[in-house]
Formats: sequence, structure tokens, C-alpha cells
Amino acid sequence: MLAQSGVNQIMAFEKICSLDDVWEGEMEVFETTDGVEVLILGLEGGRVKAFQAMCPHQDIALVEGSFKDGVLTCRAHLWQFDMESGKGLNPTDCHITEYPVQIEGEDVYVNVEGLEPARSHT
Ligand code: FES
Repeated sequence: MLAQSGVNQIMAFEKICSLDDVWEGEMEVFETTDGVEVLILGLEGGRVKAFQAMCPHQDIALVEGSFKDGVLTCRAHLWQFDMESGKGLNPTDCHITEYPVQIEGEDVYVNVEGLEPARSHT
């Protein structure tokens, strides 16, 4: 729970959306107060994960791709990512940055501090 976290941790996490905003199997982009776009995904079992919003290949919005069976496919050149880990499935020498998530009640908090979106020029 946030109330039991350290003060710095509380400040680093910020509310980005509600659980109601992202149902299982869905994804949506939200923005932090500092303008960082975050891709929020609803995974199996009601879990929520947060990743960088843009494809590491050529900066296409990942939300414009498809999300099925835990795999996100970019619409532009069909790169695929395992959305449990952010690791590239095709190609395998890439990944997307995952942001820590905390849930408090219905609120989804993310922490983007110190984390840069991954880029790849494969
Ligand atoms: S921009 Fe996403 S695969 Fe090329």
C-alpha cells in the first residue's frame, strides 16, 4: 500500500488512471503530469502493467497495434513484444521499458522516474 511506502516512493508514483479505464485484454495510453506517455495494459486476472508508449523501432504508438494473448504487435512493421516482460519476441534483440505499477483501491499509480524508453535501430 502507498501509505506504507517511503516518502520518496510516494512522490515518485503518481495516479495515471483507474482500473475501470483498462479492462482485461485492453490497452490505453495515459500521460503523467510531466508529459510522459505510458501504455497501460489490462492483463489476465485483472493485473495491470505499464510500458513505454512508443515502439522502440521507429516511434509508432504501440496502442495503435494489436494486443492478443499477452503479445503486442506494432502496426507498422509487426514487431512483437511479450507484455509480461516487455521482451522482444520478433525480433528478440529489443525490448520496451516497463514502469512500476501500484494499485490502491481503484486507482492505478505508475513511477516513470529514472526510466527511459528503449530504442532499437535493428
Ligand atoms: S515502428 Fe514498430 S515495428 Fe517498426
